Amino acid sequence: MPEERLYGVEINRDGPQQLLRRGLKLSPDHLIEGDLLEQDVDGLGGPFKAIVGNPPYIRHHRLSKDLADRGREAASELGIDLNGRSDAWAYFCAHLVTFLDPEGRLALVLPGSVLHAEYAAPLLDALALQKGEVQLIRMTQRLFPGVQERTVLLLIDRTRLSRRRVVYRRMADLKALARGLKQNGNRRSVDRQRDDHRLPWRLTAAQSAAWDELCADERVQRLGDLGKVRIGVVTGANSFFVRSVEEAGALGKSIRTMPVVSRGGWLSKPRWNCKEQLAVSEKPSRLLLFPSGESRLTKAAKDALSAAEAEQIHERSHCLRRTPWYVVRDRAVPHLFLPYMGSGPPHLTVNEADATCTNAVHRVWLDSPEEGNKEAVAAASWTTLSRLSAELFGRSYGGGVLKLEPRGAGDLRIASTRPAVLDEIAEMLDLKGSEAACALADRRILEEGLGVEPGVVEILRAAAAALERLRLR
Ligand SMILES: C[S@@+](CC[C@H](N)C(=O)[O-])C[C@H]1O[C@@H](n2cnc3c(N)ncnc32)[C@H](O)[C@@H]1O
Repeated sequence: MPEERLYGVEINRDGPQQLLRRGLKLSPDHLIEGDLLEQDVDGLGGPFKAIVGNPPYIRHHRLSKDLADRGREAASELGIDLNGRSDAWAYFCAHLVTFLDPEGRLALVLPGSVLHAEYAAPLLDALALQKGEVQLIRMTQRLFPGVQERTVLLLIDRTRLSRRRVVYRRMADLKALARGLKQNGNRRSVDRQRDDHRLPWRLTAAQSAAWDELCADERVQRLGDLGKVRIGVVTGANSFFVRSVEEAGALGKSIRTMPVVSRGGWLSKPRWNCKEQLAVSEKPSRLLLFPSGESRLTKAAKDALSAAEAEQIHERSHCLRRTPWYVVRDRAVPHLFLPYMGSGPPHLTVNEADATCTNAVHRVWLDSPEEGNKEAVAAASWTTLSRLSAELFGRSYGGGVLKLEPRGAGDLRIASTRPAVLDEIAEMLDLKGSEAACALADRRILEEGLGVEPGVVEILRAAAAALERLRLR
């Protein structure tokens, strides 16, 4: 009898009762009213050939530490560390997998965050490396009326060959899902490697078509194909090495300094010039360049080094890699800056101050920096195309932050344009703010420059806005 092998776990007393009222034949001792994370496979008489579940979606900040600690254990069996930023479903998912038979199948109803949350990626990758096939199916239809959440199904089938990566699919509604699952064996090749990006898969068909059409234009290039992106200077101890003008001056003439951009938030304008640098004089904006021989140091500088050593700054890992620890040799001045993370879309800023930056900001060098190329590239970073590429290739963090690693930054799409557009954008930014500046960039660069239909730009704008909303939620 199937019910002999059927078990259910639900913490809320009403759940099991509802099931029994609906006529489910199940012995009461198989309907466990309790915390699933406290159950283990032996206690429940497993392993199980089939597991279905709709785990709770509780956001990480409302999750009890107790629950998170129990959930973390199963995750560590998968070789991953679910930190305090993970929402409840991730812990349940990792835990449920421990109940699965080597020939078993699992189906979980999950929230949209499985698609974009930072903590979801290592979990999915770990699952994909296990035995069996792992699919994520995004449902277009809203399955739970009144619930904002997107529905994504996670399917694991241990009887199928592991593809060593997650297979992504999209289904319109439940009918399509039923059809699609039946045809599972001979489905069209719609899988996309995670790194090949969650791309059109995260867009609607119309958005995906607009993106493909634009990216196919030879006047649209990846930033990584126009030059190179590197992280900013890693000092290992910014509070010591990056000082205000006054603090740096107090250390005496033996220490040279150079201008440094140490906050992504400073780069709100398209150009970083001496005036901008001067405006942050009172903030940490000078990188200390110690000479390598201590004999050449003033007393104030020697005192500063002794004070740092008393605080063990010289023992920090990046400092240990240098001899002497206080000489930062990476002083390379980039053509452009790009904030590493922020809540808004990242824009490129032309470096006119011969400054470098700390690793809060990426450094960009163009292969052809001459003839206004820097300005043109910076201007293009204000378009919706660039904004959408940042949402697609960046990673989203708790609190809505979009983090763009150098590799993701290399995937930013840059449409070619005239350098003069940058000044128009700067002017519009001063007058009417960033939304207006972006709209102007779209008009000048995408519509007038590339001849893209305004309707197509609108589609891309909706795509970028939807991904941004998902991230900021
Ligand atoms: C998204 S609802 C799904 C409800 C129902 N299973 C369904 O599919 O319609 C998540 C369910 O998980 C239950 N739950 C929350 N924490 C739990 C835990 N630690 N152990 C077992 N069930 C839990 C909640 O009571 C809630 O009913």
